[in-house]
Amino acid sequence: MSIFKSHIAQMGAYKPPLEGRDPHEHLLLDFNERTLPVCPAVKQAMIDFIQDDRLQCYPSYGNIATRLADYCSVAPEQVMITNGSDQGIDLIIRSACREGEEAIIPGPSFAMYHQVAKVENLKIIEPSYTKEEGFPKQAVLDAVSDRTRLIVISNPNNPSGTVVNRADILEIAKAAPDAAILVDECYFEYTRETVADVVDQYPNLLITRTFSKTWGLPSVRFGYVISHEANIRALLNVRGPYDVNQLAIAAIEAALDNPGYTEQYVKEVMEVSKPMFEDFLNRKGIDYWPSVANFIWTFPDNPEEIEKHLRTNHILVRPKADESGKVGLRVNLGNKAQTERLINTLSLII
Ligand SMILES: Cc1ncc(COP(=O)(O)O)c(C=O)c1O
Repeated sequence: MSIFKSHIAQMGAYKPPLEGRDPHEHLLLDFNERTLPVCPAVKQAMIDFIQDDRLQCYPSYGNIATRLADYCSVAPEQVMITNGSDQGIDLIIRSACREGEEAIIPGPSFAMYHQVAKVENLKIIEPSYTKEEGFPKQAVLDAVSDRTRLIVISNPNNPSGTVVNRADILEIAKAAPDAAILVDECYFEYTRETVADVVDQYPNLLITRTFSKTWGLPSVRFGYVISHEANIRALLNVRGPYDVNQLAIAAIEAALDNPGYTEQYVKEVMEVSKPMFEDFLNRKGIDYWPSVANFIWTFPDNPEEIEKHLRTNHILVRPKADESGKVGLRVNLGNKAQTERLINTLSLII
């Protein structure tokens, strides 16, 4: 007999396959991360913070929301910082939904949405993404009821790499005005697609973003939510005053001072590495989902064998099953040299 709510005691943990991931031993193409270290100024800012003997003080966030607001072209009152976008997802779902209400979470998608929805004991409705249509817009609209309290739009979606256009997002936001429309813009810097500019007109839109991907800082855990000012005020009632650590703030300020290192990386991944890898897949006749992000969901005939071959050659990719259970390999791209290494290694077996 557990002291906890029975549905929580019976749940499984969200356990990403982290074991053995060593960037010095492997080329890591399995978590959609940046594959290169961050710029020296970001590392130096963290070292300087430690040397300045402030570790004994509680965090205080200064003007970071204003700096982010500038970066996003929104008002500072429309931004809240979080401990990774995972925390943004958690706060939004926890604050918006009551036990037994309905969450529409198209799948397959990022595991955190289900995890939090299960913690809140929501009824999950999961229309399927398809290779032909991508986001199942009509099925989502059809599933909206007066019990719908959450709709997740992962944009672009992980693992499919598919995008939902702005008109469709706004149509869904209008169709479910009492639901939180969680638009996950985790990969924003790759796509530049956003609805941040209309959060005032659509008060049920809640956008989560992160410094974990293009900015290369998943280890410091820093994300942010963009939404209508009233939503941000409400979410700040739930988020703790110190949930984001001060070392992360030092890193993020330096990152924002040096956007070039991110822009350059995005350019190389999207304009050189991705087309190179797509060309390889096309030449080899390997099926894949068209992606707008830095990762591609590929469906070779023998995914297990290929994953093992890559692992033996110190390259990690991520097996991910589609809605029919067919296993594909989600591969994120790095710089040109890393992509050449990937292609050369794959060529030994395909
Ligand atoms: C779609 C999506 N959202 C959110 C996250 C989590 O980001 P963070 O590290 O900011 O919690 C990921 C990480 O893989 C993701 O793919």
